Amino acid sequence: MITFVYAQDEHGAIGFKQDLPWYLPSDLKHFKETTMGHTMVMGRKTFESMGKRLLPGRKSVVVTNQADYGADIPELMVLHNIEDVLELGKNQELMVIGGAGLYESLWPHVDKIARTVIYDTFEADTFIPEIDKSKFELVKVVHGVVDEKNVHAHDYEWWKRKEGATK
Ligand SMILES: NC(=O)c1ccc[n+]([C@@H]2O[C@H](COP(=O)([O-])OP(=O)(O)OC[C@H]3O[C@@H](n4cnc5c(N)ncnc54)[C@H](OP(=O)(O)O)[C@@H]3O)[C@@H](O)[C@H]2O)c1
Repeated sequence: MITFVYAQDEHGAIGFKQDLPWYLPSDLKHFKETTMGHTMVMGRKTFESMGKRLLPGRKSVVVTNQADYGADIPELMVLHNIEDVLELGKNQELMVIGGAGLYESLWPHVDKIARTVIYDTFEADTFIPEIDKSKFELVKVVHGVVDEKNVHAHDYEWWKRKEGATK
């Protein structure tokens, strides 16, 4: 099973200069809760944007074309194509955490989506397309709390592929 986890602004922005475009600590907490105990799959640039850190309580899998990538990080699993990601996801729920290239390749295979929508506009260079509502249905929304540390209005959404929607 493939689950996407991402945060976007009103225009689908997800990244800027190899970082997140915003500062929203409550979404980082939400990300931690959503991914805890799961296997996270990410593109090589997203892994590097997180400082090549292995996040506690979660298995990290990086997708790259580079043959020797990650040889110095024994706990890291490295895959080299989408077919191997799909194979890995046959017996477990994979949390795909970006970035844009990986999301794009895996849209046809995604079963569930945990999306944070931030109701603001940010300077960005990396985007994700809008969810195809003919294929996915919104099953839950929780409004994020705005406070002095989390100044952007935001919603946490959970989507699933519609019954019978083809992959
Ligand atoms: N807002 C969010 O939720 C969110 C989530 C994740 C990332 N981001 C942001 O997105 C940006 C990074 O994303 P990105 O799209 O630029 O990069 P990315 O998808 O993280 O990484 C791209 C790299 O992954 C490897 N890759 C991807 N698909 C592959 C495939 N099918 N086969 C083999 N290798 C593959 C390639 O690595 P090689 O070049 O090594 O071959 C490719 O250059 C950053 O700004 C980050 O902060 C935001």
